[in-house]
This record gives sequence, structure tokens and C-alpha cells, in this order.
Amino acid sequence: MWDYEAAAAERLEPGAYGYYAGGAGDERTLRDNVEAFTRWQLRPRVLVDVGAPSTATTVLGHDVSLPVLVAPVAYQRVAHPDGEVAMGRAAAAAGTVMCLSTLATSSPEEVAATGVQRWFQLYVFRDLGVTREMVDRAREAGFTALVLTVDTPVLGRRERDVRTGFTVPPDLPVPSLGRGGVTPHEALQLMSPSLSWKDVQAFADMARLPVVVKGVVTAEDAHLACEHGAAALVVSNHGGRQLDGVSATIDALPEVVGAVGGRVDVLLDGGIRRGTDVVKALALGARAVLAGRAPLWGLVVDGEMGARHVLELLRAEIELALQLVGCPRVDELSPAHVQQRR
Ligand code: FNR
Ligand code: LAC
Repeated sequence: MWDYEAAAAERLEPGAYGYYAGGAGDERTLRDNVEAFTRWQLRPRVLVDVGAPSTATTVLGHDVSLPVLVAPVAYQRVAHPDGEVAMGRAAAAAGTVMCLSTLATSSPEEVAATGVQRWFQLYVFRDLGVTREMVDRAREAGFTALVLTVDTPVLGRRERDVRTGFTVPPDLPVPSLGRGGVTPHEALQLMSPSLSWKDVQAFADMARLPVVVKGVVTAEDAHLACEHGAAALVVSNHGGRQLDGVSATIDALPEVVGAVGGRVDVLLDGGIRRGTDVVKALALGARAVLAGRAPLWGLVVDGEMGARHVLELLRAEIELALQLVGCPRVDELSPAHVQQRR
């Protein structure tokens, strides 16, 4: 996976690379998402029959063959001409779910045609009519859940983008905006900064779809998400792109899992680069994880095949880790399989 990141860094023009790789402020949280996994160690058990490891599980009632979903990532045709369609094909081949960003450069119908299991990530436009149209369109295109991103009432300050002036090329229209040629900051200014908890149920009702609340990192908000009708939640800090200085997601996970107390599925994203990262997150109570940049680097390097290869590398690493940890099934991982480094 790291080789893909290095190759992607060479291939992309600096503005696009900075947008994909970068984070907010001093990028402390961006780095910590990755580094925090090294502060958790595995506790392997031996003399367990690990002849047939399985990475299969269910998320929101969907069977997935890999506990790694593809996170919503905006503007994927900037990464590769086939963009979200290639990513959809890769996720379908891996037997997992793809989350399509509101700020995608491919339409919901194009992604639906790949046959991938699909969830739609929602940014709520200030114009409620536009929002409603988008949600209806996603449901009609067979998206089976809404991923409501709640950590982005306004865009974080990404200094790499300020320096490069990164703009989506004018010839790459963003269907939800009806045009290209926007900066990430301009796109987010079209979104409402005024969402509140009561809106979660309202969007679930409007969409007639389960709502996955993405961007919770505290026990307080985990309780509120459960009380307000969330079907699942994602412990996420938006890949370190929003509030710099917030804790790494793997460190926030135990608090959120404790507060949820099994009421809904808890997912995690941020810093997933290795199969062992996935195993640690599952041991601490995540049902599955989402990966943003890892498959994205694959997409940059070799389109569908690159993204597919990254997902298969993760699968192989997860299988190997399960065998060496002495827990052949992902859904039998438990907190006894991890400890904080002493
Ligand atoms: C994102 N992320 C994101 N999230 C979201 O809800 N809607 C979006 O449009 C985007 N766009 C986006 C663009 C880029 C370039 C990145 C890197 C990320 C956040 C994403 O879903 C996820 O939370 C993080 O990427 C997880 O961290 P890792 O896996 O990239 O470390
Ligand atoms: C980002 C927004 C678009 O992280 O979600 O760039």
C-alpha cells in the first residue's frame, strides 16, 4: 500500500496530491490517525485452528466479504479518468460497499451500473429542494443507506490547498453542483452549517433509508446519535482534514463503543493502511472500517485494477493477521486481542 502512495505522489500534479494527501492545520491529527495504531498492540492466542480464516461479516444487514468499506472521497476523476466508476468496480470485485460522495465527479446512475453495494454520502445543501432531489435520485439508483457526514459544517483549513489554489478542473463537472471549476471551499459554502440532531430523523424519513452518522468521536454524541435514530455511526475525524488536534480515531473508538453499548453498528475510519490496523479496530469493537486514501492511491496508479489490488492486499493482510492472532473469524475478535503499548 505504501508503494501506491509513493507512486501516486509522483503521478499527480502537486495541487491534486496536496488535496488528497493533506489535512487541516498542522496535520497533527492526520499523522496521529496513522501513528496511533502503533500504540495498540495485538495479543495473539496460539494453538487455535486457523486453517480457514474468514474476513466475511455483515454491516447494516449487508453481507460483505471484507470488513473494509470504501469511504466517500470527493472528485475521484481528478485521481483517474475512470474515477468513481472504477472505484465502484473495484469495491464490487472485493465484495464490499462503496460510499459515493455528494461531491463525486460521476453520477449515482453510473456508479449503480457497476453493480456495487452502495451507500450515498450526504452533504446537506442550504437549498433543501436540491438536497431532496439528490436523496430521491440516490434511492432510485439503488443506494441502500445515507451516510450523513456531520463533522463538516464548514470546511477545515487545509493549508496545502491554500498554497496551491487547488481547483476541480472546469471540464470535470460535479453532477450535484452542475459544474466543475470549483475549489473544495466554494463547494462547501453551498452546504448548510446549521444541521442539528433533529435533522437525522428528518433525513431518514425523507430518504426512507437508514442513516449512518459519520464523524462522531465522543461518548456524548454517540448517545445522541442512538437517541436520534442513527442506524450506525462512523468514528471519524474526516481523515484529519477538519479539526486539527482531535484524537486519533482508534483512540476514540473504545469511548464510543462503550457509549453505544451494542445499540447500533459502530464503524471507524482514519489511518487504515494495513490489515493489522483493521484487526485492531475490530478487536476494539468496530464492526467494519472504511478506507479513504488507501484505495484512492490504488485508483491514481492504475484505475480499477489499482484500487482492487489495494483492497486485495488489505484482505490478504487481514487473513494473515487473523491466523497469527489465533482468531480465524473477524466477528470473534474481542478487546482481549489488543492492549495499549506499555
Ligand atoms: C475525504 N473524506 C470525505 N468524507 C465525506 O464524508 N465526504 C467527502 O466528500 C469526502 N471527501 C474526501 C476527500 C479526500 C481527498 C479525502 C482524503 C477524504 C473523508 C473520508 O470519507 C474518510 O473519513 C477519510 O478519508 C478516512 O481517512 P483515511 O482512510 O484517508 O486515512
Ligand atoms: C473533503 C471534503 C470535500 O474532505 O469532504 O475534501
